Amino acid sequence: MMKLTEIAHARLADHLQAGDRTIDATAGNGHDTAFLAERVGAGGRVIAIDIQEDALAATRARLAAAGLLDRVDLVCADHCMHLATLAELPTGCVAAVLFNLGYLPGGDKSIKTTAANTELALDRARRLLRLNGLLCVTAYRGHEGGPEEAARVEEWMQKQSRAGDAVEKHVPESSNQPPILWLLKKEGALLP
Ligand SMILES: C[S@@+](CC[C@H](N)C(=O)[O-])C[C@H]1O[C@@H](n2cnc3c(N)ncnc32)[C@H](O)[C@@H]1O
Repeated sequence: MMKLTEIAHARLADHLQAGDRTIDATAGNGHDTAFLAERVGAGGRVIAIDIQEDALAATRARLAAAGLLDRVDLVCADHCMHLATLAELPTGCVAAVLFNLGYLPGGDKSIKTTAANTELALDRARRLLRLNGLLCVTAYRGHEGGPEEAARVEEWMQKQSRAGDAVEKHVPESSNQPPILWLLKKEGALLP
C-alpha cells in the first residue's frame, strides 16, 4: 500500500509544471520542499515556511545538497501570519500548497501546529491557490491535540466540498488513529 506522502507526491507530480509557484507551509526537515523544488524546475518558486529555525536549517541543508536552494524562499514564521502577508500576491497565482501538520520529527514535540491556527491558515492558503490548484494536508492523530486538529481540518474540508471544491480523503487501514491525507482541488465558485 502507498504511504500518504507517496500519494501526495504522485498527485503533485501529475499536477505541477515547470515554472509553477508553490508553498510548503510546514517545511520541517525539507523532504516536501525538496520535492516541490525539483518539480517546479529552475524557473519555478517554492516558499517554504516553518516556525522553527532548526527546521529551516535542516531544509536549507537538504536543498543545498540537492542543488535546489536557489529556487526556494525560506521563511521563519508562523504560516498563518505569513500567508496573510502573501495576500498581496494576486489571488490564484499559486499552483499548490502543502501542510504536513504536527511537530518536527526528531525535534521539540511541544512546538506543533494547532487546530484554530491551522483552520485560519487553510483559509488563507486556499485563497492564494489558482483555479484547479491543489491543497495537500496531512494530519497526525497520535499526539496531544492531534485528533482535535484532524477533526477541525475534516470540518473545513467538508465546508469547501459543499461549496464546490473537489476533496479526496485517504486514511491508511490501521486500528490505531492513522494519519489522514486530504487532497483538495480548488473548483468552488462560491468562496473566494
Ligand atoms: C511534520 S513536520 C513537517 C515535515 C516536512 N513536511 C518534511 O517534509 O520534513 C511539521 C512542521 O510544522 C512546523 N510548524 C508547527 N507550527 C507551525 C506554524 N504555526 N507555522 C509554521 N510551521 C509550523 C513544525 O516546526 C514542524 O517542523
